[in-house]
Amino acid sequence: MDGNGRWAKARHLPRVAGHSRGVETVRTIIEASIANGIEYLSLFAFSSENWRRPADEVSVLMRLFVSSLQKEIEALMRNGVRLRVVGQIHSFEPSLRDLIAQAQERSAHNTRLHLTICASYGGRWDIVQAAQHLAAEFAAGGTLPDEANFARHLSMSFAPDPDLLIRTGGERRISNFLIWQLAYAELFFTDVLWPDFQGEQFAAALKWYAQRERRFGRTSEQLQRIE
Ligand code: IPE
Ligand code: MG
Repeated sequence: MDGNGRWAKARHLPRVAGHSRGVETVRTIIEASIANGIEYLSLFAFSSENWRRPADEVSVLMRLFVSSLQKEIEALMRNGVRLRVVGQIHSFEPSLRDLIAQAQERSAHNTRLHLTICASYGGRWDIVQAAQHLAAEFAAGGTLPDEANFARHLSMSFAPDPDLLIRTGGERRISNFLIWQLAYAELFFTDVLWPDFQGEQFAAALKWYAQRERRFGRTSEQLQRIE
């Protein structure tokens, strides 16, 4: 979700105004996901590297995280959304950690949409923490992991690999998001800034995705034979 700052700057507003608007887009995209029958939506809200931002912006983002969780939990429950927050949760303040734990617990039985907020998340961190768990298992007499076993230790092991990655805000990079899981994802890059990314733009991304041929290493001819 990129482009909140630029959206605000273009309107001579403080960056925080862009972040607040960005939260509204989150609500819109959750609703649009449900309407389109999408079962897994994962949002990169705050990266391990975002801690390097000025302290006042970090604290604004944390406050926004808290207030959004408080405000949105009822709507998430009404809509059958299961919320998970994935990342280095221990770096958050205890009050935010408690809110996250409560929201995860309350929504644990919802099944319509699995919403994951990646916060204080980094793809390399994720791979390293999986490797550390596996190393400990191995030291305790376990076997060497294969790909499937490795993936089971990643922090989003509950979800299938993403089919579609959408990056707003004009950059053409992954920026340490789900680097293992994105191996075969279709990558959709748009210049639209996150606060301007609405149902219409989301529908365009889904339409683009629907036209992709997903070969997973096979040839086009092989796929046609399978169909
Ligand atoms: C994305 O918008 C929000 C977060 C990373 C929290 P930015 O804050 O990166 O917006 P730009 O890139 O400065 O426009
Ligand atoms: Mg940015």
